[in-house]
Amino acid sequence: MHKTVFTLDRITFSYGAGNLFDNLSLNINGGESVCLLGANGSGKSTLLKIFCGLAFPCAGHFYAFGQEITEDLMEDNRVAQKYHRQVGFIFQNSEAQLFNTRVWDEIAYGPQQLGLSKQDISSRVEDVLNMLNLQSLAQRSPYRLSGGEKKKVAVASALILNPEVLILDEPTNGLDPKTQRWLIELLQELHKRGRTIITATHNLELAHAISERTLVLSEEHQLVYDGPSHEALTNKPLLMSVNLIDEYCHVHGEEEHKHYYIHG
Ligand SMILES: Nc1ncnc2c1ncn2[C@@H]1O[C@H](COP(=O)(O)OP(=O)(O)OP(=O)(O)O)[C@@H](O)[C@H]1O
Ligand SMILES: [Mg+2]
Repeated sequence: MHKTVFTLDRITFSYGAGNLFDNLSLNINGGESVCLLGANGSGKSTLLKIFCGLAFPCAGHFYAFGQEITEDLMEDNRVAQKYHRQVGFIFQNSEAQLFNTRVWDEIAYGPQQLGLSKQDISSRVEDVLNMLNLQSLAQRSPYRLSGGEKKKVAVASALILNPEVLILDEPTNGLDPKTQRWLIELLQELHKRGRTIITATHNLELAHAISERTLVLSEEHQLVYDGPSHEALTNKPLLMSVNLIDEYCHVHGEEEHKHYYIHG
């Protein structure tokens, strides 16, 4: 059996006015690939921020790798650094994640923070650049890259620390089909190698391709489904009830057709 990586034990979370999550409990096991589905504003990014140790429940408990994670604990820089080495994340907006003037330095930043030797850092950066086929971007400024290129650099910056858990927020947004395929294959490979992967998305094809388990949040921020991805993704009433697919009817001649529109 895999050990539990994350446990939410009856957590309440609030940004101020009213509770976003109330009494939410959930377990994520090591080696799982989990997709988090839900309409805009359902709370996906917030839940991922809790897993990343960047937002904290106001009641209940959040445990990671068997240890309770609290705001006080994460204020200790050494603890936070160790945590971020274990749990890599790729934000919804990769722009917010880039702050160095050269792609090479951007990717080297994490290992530098860990105090690795220059030689070790260099060889890790080269490995990741080769693995993700990013050599041609190494000397460029991250700010002048296209959206998809920025996303790749954010992926490289997360992978260089070889985290046990990878958290991705809408990773395929704005990626062309070939780059989406590249990302899907990369996530499948990381999953095969035993990494735990948690991905928030509206992209049902992505969920199908990379995850065995799906969590669905309703627009009221309730966890309304936790089970096999293939069942969630073929459950039209469920997907419609949480606004992940839209049904509209129209008439061709005498016949009425139903169309399902799937958010890309
Ligand atoms: N920093 C914040 N302060 C106050 N409210 C916030 C903050 N961040 C998010 N919210 C609110 O919390 C709710 C959940 O937001 P969240 O970003 O988690 O949704 P999401 O499911 O990721 O949506 P999307 O699909 O649009 O990315 C929304 O109603 C949002 O307006
Ligand atoms: Mg979001």
